[in-house]
Amino acid sequence: MTTTPVPETPLSAAHQISPSLIATLPGHYYTDPEIFRQEQEHLFESTWFCAVRSADLAKPGAFRTVQVGRENVLITRTRKGELRAFLNVCRHRGARLCMEDSGEVRRNIQCPYHAWTYDLDGKLIAAPNLIKMPDVDRVEYGLINVALREWLGYAWVCLAGEPPSFEDTVMYAAVERLGDAAAIEHYGTENLALGKRITYDVKANWKLIVENFMECYHCATIHPELTDVLPEFADGYAAQYYVGHGAEFGEDVRGFTVDGSEGFARLPAVTSDQDRRYYAITIKPTVFVNLVPDHVILHRMFPLAADRTVVECDWLYAPEVVESGADVSKSVELFHRVNAQDIEACERTQPAMSSRAYRRGGVLVPNEHHIGIFHEWLIEKLGGDHGRPVH
Ligand code: FES
Ligand code: FE
Repeated sequence: MTTTPVPETPLSAAHQISPSLIATLPGHYYTDPEIFRQEQEHLFESTWFCAVRSADLAKPGAFRTVQVGRENVLITRTRKGELRAFLNVCRHRGARLCMEDSGEVRRNIQCPYHAWTYDLDGKLIAAPNLIKMPDVDRVEYGLINVALREWLGYAWVCLAGEPPSFEDTVMYAAVERLGDAAAIEHYGTENLALGKRITYDVKANWKLIVENFMECYHCATIHPELTDVLPEFADGYAAQYYVGHGAEFGEDVRGFTVDGSEGFARLPAVTSDQDRRYYAITIKPTVFVNLVPDHVILHRMFPLAADRTVVECDWLYAPEVVESGADVSKSVELFHRVNAQDIEACERTQPAMSSRAYRRGGVLVPNEHHIGIFHEWLIEKLGGDHGRPVH
């Protein structure tokens, strides 16, 4: 891999400055289009990327298009009811097949340019004069397949030629965090219904959003509602990173809501150990899962540029809660405020990434040292020493 010469970058990702302080990444990691391109190639196109919620593609013929790294991916629901993913590129002369973010086709996908037509499994089934070209193999000239796995009710896609093990990467993030493979299954996330979705267009590099999610040093300063519900967060305690630990609701708190009022019934398989607790999981690079007894909040990031990230946040409840038309606004409002507060902090930070004050980066205090592990992971994915900032 070749890299462009990097500007002044004196410290390695996990450089220990003093017993208390570890260096962050240098500022240009958050602004440089070439670093972003490397991340597209080595992260978003190489790891499993959480693309769509499966239930968003309810009927056969439903499709979504999603930007994954530098590629646009088309996800369809087939006649058999399965989800399939393809590169959104016509095999004839390359026109983008579906321009919309989502939609529904009746039977097939037809290219708007010269009308090559593919079925929902990607096979080429018709083209003008195709009958006169018997040598054209309809499978070979079908759409290019992209690997797809479903988990937690979402379709995860991977553009790598040989995708990494889904179990050892995506699913393991939950095991590593919760200390137990079964723990996340108790929430039955794949059977939950969407109560609310909010999409945030964030003017910040995706790594600032990950780093923010990974630490709670800022909770006391910017999250008054969250620390009211989870008093231990007021200490800047990085509860996310103590294996198996879930932050406990305050004594007077009745539910994970903006005012601590009663939520909904505990999800059926959630255990008494998990009751009245909040667990946060980071599934690198782009997914955050928050588990509370009566709902699940799942964030998916779509990094679009070095300084722009779209975040889609889903609030998921028991189907009977959503079907009954119950008011979910008190629980939605809590994490929506948290999101808005975090986004404001990230957007406040992004412009400074190109300041000379941040050329060598900033520092991580002990409550944030685990962010250094994320930086090490990133540097390794970008090509080990090649991607490492130069001393
Ligand atoms: Fe699609 Fe020609 S580019 S049919
Ligand atoms: Fe926060």
